[in-house]
Amino acid sequence: MARVTPAELRIMKRRGERIPMLTAYDFPTARIIDAVGVPLILVGDSVGTTVLGYETTIPVTLDDVLHHTRAVVRGTSHALVIADMPFMTYHPSTDEALRNAGRLIQEGGAQAVKLEGGRIVAETVRRLVDCGIPVQGHLGLTPQSVFQLGGHRLQGKTAPAAQRIFEDAKMLEEAGAFSIVLELVPAPLARQISEALSVPTIGIGAGPFCDGQVQVIHDLLGLDPSFQPRHARRYASLYEIIHEAVSHYADDVRQGQFPTAAESFGMDSPSPLAEVVGVKEGG
Ligand code: KIV
Repeated sequence: MARVTPAELRIMKRRGERIPMLTAYDFPTARIIDAVGVPLILVGDSVGTTVLGYETTIPVTLDDVLHHTRAVVRGTSHALVIADMPFMTYHPSTDEALRNAGRLIQEGGAQAVKLEGGRIVAETVRRLVDCGIPVQGHLGLTPQSVFQLGGHRLQGKTAPAAQRIFEDAKMLEEAGAFSIVLELVPAPLARQISEALSVPTIGIGAGPFCDGQVQVIHDLLGLDPSFQPRHARRYASLYEIIHEAVSHYADDVRQGQFPTAAESFGMDSPSPLAEVVGVKEGG
């Protein structure tokens, strides 16, 4: 099956087909998501908080995203893989943004990049798109601005703030973005934006009216029992399952229950050293 293309996403929107999207950071997870037929996989800079143990996404580097993007791309053949551009890899200049986005495509194997912000990055988006790099926008709560925003809070609550996000979305579309993530904005605002754009909106904490939804795979799988954002639904409790499996294994090793003969090799044969003069069995 060929890879999903940005043009197909637009068609899906026109047909009213809802678009699921998930993050992935490694080969085996990407392989499962791809096998299910999820059309969009994001190698998010959320790799920083979910996998690398950082408190925010700010410390994530281009090399981090490159490394994880390569693994995800190797695990997929159908999904469109989007690599997130980390903090400060697209702000200093359009040329730098182009160079870094180019690396994610050329060295990482991604088919698109995502970057955060509205009017401030519109020219950058235009340049990347002009150079053949599909770009997904990201508005509302933009985690790379967490210090400026004062935390992970709902955005666009007042009329001027909502107006700004609405205008930003139009500017990104006009600059050539093939899709826009809307994070933590009121559902009615997400609905207005989704209706006003011809490219699909992908919501996270933005209500049910977006054209698609994105979730961080670790939230969906319940890998961190201490973190349950309101906008995430836990479809599995993998923390508990993994904890149980690891405890069981450690107990078995401590009690000499693992490995058994069935899990060992040559248990019924003499040691290969038996024929070596002077070496006794068992010692
Ligand atoms: O990095 C990420 O996982 C994201 C999603 C929350 C959209 O940007």
